[in-house]
Amino acid sequence: MYSLIVLIIIYKRLSKYTTDTIKSAFRQEYLLMPDFFNSLENALLSSSVNETIEMTRQAFELCHQNSSFIEPVNRIIKPIDFVRFPDKPICVAPRDLPRRRLGTEAGKRSFIHAIAHIEFNAIKLALDIAYRFKGMPAQFYKDWVYVANDECKHFQLLCNHLATYDCQYGDNPSHDGLWSMAVKTDDNLLARLSLVPRYLEARGLDVTPAMLEKLYAQKDMDTAAILEIILEDEVTHVEFGTKWLDFVCENEGVEREDVFFEHVERLLKGQILGPFNKPLRLRAGFTPSELLELERLDKRKLKQT
Ligand SMILES: [Fe+2]
Ligand SMILES: [Fe+2]
Repeated sequence: MYSLIVLIIIYKRLSKYTTDTIKSAFRQEYLLMPDFFNSLENALLSSSVNETIEMTRQAFELCHQNSSFIEPVNRIIKPIDFVRFPDKPICVAPRDLPRRRLGTEAGKRSFIHAIAHIEFNAIKLALDIAYRFKGMPAQFYKDWVYVANDECKHFQLLCNHLATYDCQYGDNPSHDGLWSMAVKTDDNLLARLSLVPRYLEARGLDVTPAMLEKLYAQKDMDTAAILEIILEDEVTHVEFGTKWLDFVCENEGVEREDVFFEHVERLLKGQILGPFNKPLRLRAGFTPSELLELERLDKRKLKQT
């Protein structure tokens, strides 16, 4: 009789422990993941630079702490025109931006500011791809928040460097060319992956080495060191574009190459610009035949012939 009572007590304790453990695991999955998407939404809807960065970091930590990641089924997504940007920098047409001459102090300041602006837009672009497209595997959301976190790092490196030129982000005018591509592709993941990571970010791989060459020629090692970090990270961002474009194409039974060129030609309307950095693009998942086709469509080459 005594041993039966002991057994009952042990059973009750064990079952309480198990229930609590299961409850806590469920709490982690079902409470944590809405928090992740809330952080993404708050970062996108904020017009404050600091809050955008803080919320991005929060989303990054939430999804990397939790391996069992479940997207809430009924998640509601706000339209893209709810996304906010800081009041400064003011936006002007690209032709109205001051010319950048890297050789002067003012030119260097305006060059660093322009790259910082690209990086701030890149934070919002990476957040938006993670926020706007539902029903993807957990790794999709993790990858794009990883990218957003990288972009915060790039932006902050450039802002710190800008401070040494007595300048802060927002002091110079800028343009909204990058974000307009997010708006044009807000309802189509194939178009978004083709145009944002695989076209706009891949352009960074093409143009950065020439910038680095100029900076090294001027012995500007500080700016060059930041651009080297950015260039290496951007290969991974473009690679994620290739990886997820492959995934969606396979699911939909379509060919990646056809999809990529269809969207690029439709949305860029013949404004495809080379030359292309073949070694870095190959590392980021471009095939030799994609590179050949890009070269054939290069507007600059077409003009020469
Ligand atoms: Fe970046
Ligand atoms: Fe990037």
